[in-house]
Amino acid sequence: MEENLKIPGHIAIIMDGNGRWAKKKGLARTVGHTNGAKALQRTIEACKKFGVKTLTVYAFSTENWSRPKEEVDFLMKLFLNYLTKQSKKLIENKIKFNVLGDKLRFSPEIQNAMKKLESDTQNFTEFTLNVALNYGGHAEIIKATKEIAEDLKSGKISVDDIDEKLFESHLYTCGQLPPDLIIRTSGEQRLSGFLLWQSSYSEFYFPSVHFPDFDEKQLYIAIQEYSKRDRRYGKV
Ligand code: IPE
Ligand code: IPE
Ligand code: MG
Repeated sequence: MEENLKIPGHIAIIMDGNGRWAKKKGLARTVGHTNGAKALQRTIEACKKFGVKTLTVYAFSTENWSRPKEEVDFLMKLFLNYLTKQSKKLIENKIKFNVLGDKLRFSPEIQNAMKKLESDTQNFTEFTLNVALNYGGHAEIIKATKEIAEDLKSGKISVDDIDEKLFESHLYTCGQLPPDLIIRTSGEQRLSGFLLWQSSYSEFYFPSVHFPDFDEKQLYIAIQEYSKRDRRYGKV
């Protein structure tokens, strides 16, 4: 590794381009999703190798329910499979797993698998994997607002208690540092609702690689790019 490489503590990835990757190869979109899941495993390993502490990935947005039923059904099977089959690997590797998003829209089977994996891994401190599932930045901000409104109504807090720290404590990422670097694969340059609150001072990087081709080398290039950035946070 280069001497002047700055390692982001928290990397977030919008794992985009599974469908285009498959289309380019004349394969079904679902094959792209399966290979995207493999790329996620490589990416977790590469993050650990480079000393990144937290990886957050966008796997399914609140808008993705509007895709064709067959694709949504396939993704649900893939998530359930990941949650159950990969759980041993995550535990072996001491990875703390969190879901970001509203679990209630998923089947009881998936909800149980999510909760089990979260509780089985909650005491690990070395590395955190957040998977955004049924996640939307607007939905997250509305959730926080409703919870704060309830606390205000019941007299638990007063209006003057509402500040950034209190607001953050009602987000799915409660207690975590914001992403230093947000990567969106596949060349698309938008957030599609990802971490709207948390991304206020993140650096962005948009490689053209489709997510199923993402690997250690691509991650290294992203970190090299991040190392060149001057994060001023409004100062001079
Ligand atoms: C990202 O890949 C995975 C999900 C949104 C579930 P896409 O499925 O969006 O792939 P493209 O953007 O159509 O190529
Ligand atoms: C964003 O990708 C969500 C995920 C990667 C899970 P989309 O492919 O759904 O986003 P748009 O539709 O291109 O904005
Ligand atoms: Mg897409």
